[in-house]
Amino acid sequence: MSDDIHFYEPAHGHGLPHDPFNAIVGPRPIGWIATRSNAGALNLAPYSFFNAFNYTPPLIGFSSIGRKDTLRNIEENGEFVWNLATRPLAEAMNISCAAAPPEVDEFALAGLTPVASRMVQVPRVGESPVAFECRRTQIIELQGLNGDGVGSWLVLGEVVGVHVARHLLVDGVYDTAGAAPILRAGGPADYFEITADSRFQMRRPAWP
Ligand SMILES: Cc1cc2nc3c(=O)[nH]c(=O)nc-3n(C[C@H](O)[C@H](O)[C@H](O)COP(=O)(O)O)c2cc1C
Repeated sequence: MSDDIHFYEPAHGHGLPHDPFNAIVGPRPIGWIATRSNAGALNLAPYSFFNAFNYTPPLIGFSSIGRKDTLRNIEENGEFVWNLATRPLAEAMNISCAAAPPEVDEFALAGLTPVASRMVQVPRVGESPVAFECRRTQIIELQGLNGDGVGSWLVLGEVVGVHVARHLLVDGVYDTAGAAPILRAGGPADYFEITADSRFQMRRPAWP
């Protein structure tokens, strides 16, 4: 035991004014996910329990905490489009998280342009400089230690088409900071923006 360390077992509460979990595992990239219901309603929502999981084939995934429109649409037809959330699009991304009924089109709500995709029936966000067209590979209900489902679903998909704005390809190399991606941190409102001055480089050590 050390007085310098605050230790807690999450199952018994964190004992702090705010749960630090999201602030510690952060900032997280944002899965800004577009889907379409089989009835034709467009949907767009941000998911920060999001990441990439494999290179070949490229696999990405996000976690739906509870059953949401995005999850239902992907269960229905297996298609989604991930869009890069950037600093200029931050407010629109935030508007798109409104808990609107399934028939509400968050593209329209946020003033965004749905642009037809090439490989899937779901449009991408026209204003976003990068988009991945995806097809569902797995939907897994997450479990706690006791093996019970927790009512959250990990949705994984293979990237089958990639759109990158040419201005972000500098001599053919993707300019991460040039896109000004935003990431979600903790608390009710914290985000970070990636800028060129926060970059540092480090190569993997040779062995032996
Ligand atoms: C930055 C940000 C990140 C979010 N991350 C998640 C997440 O990882 N999982 C989740 O279930 N909801 C997350 N939400 C909330 C959803 O966006 C919100 O519930 C939304 O209404 C879901 O939309 P849908 O029902 O159209 O799928 C996030 C919201 C914001 C603003």
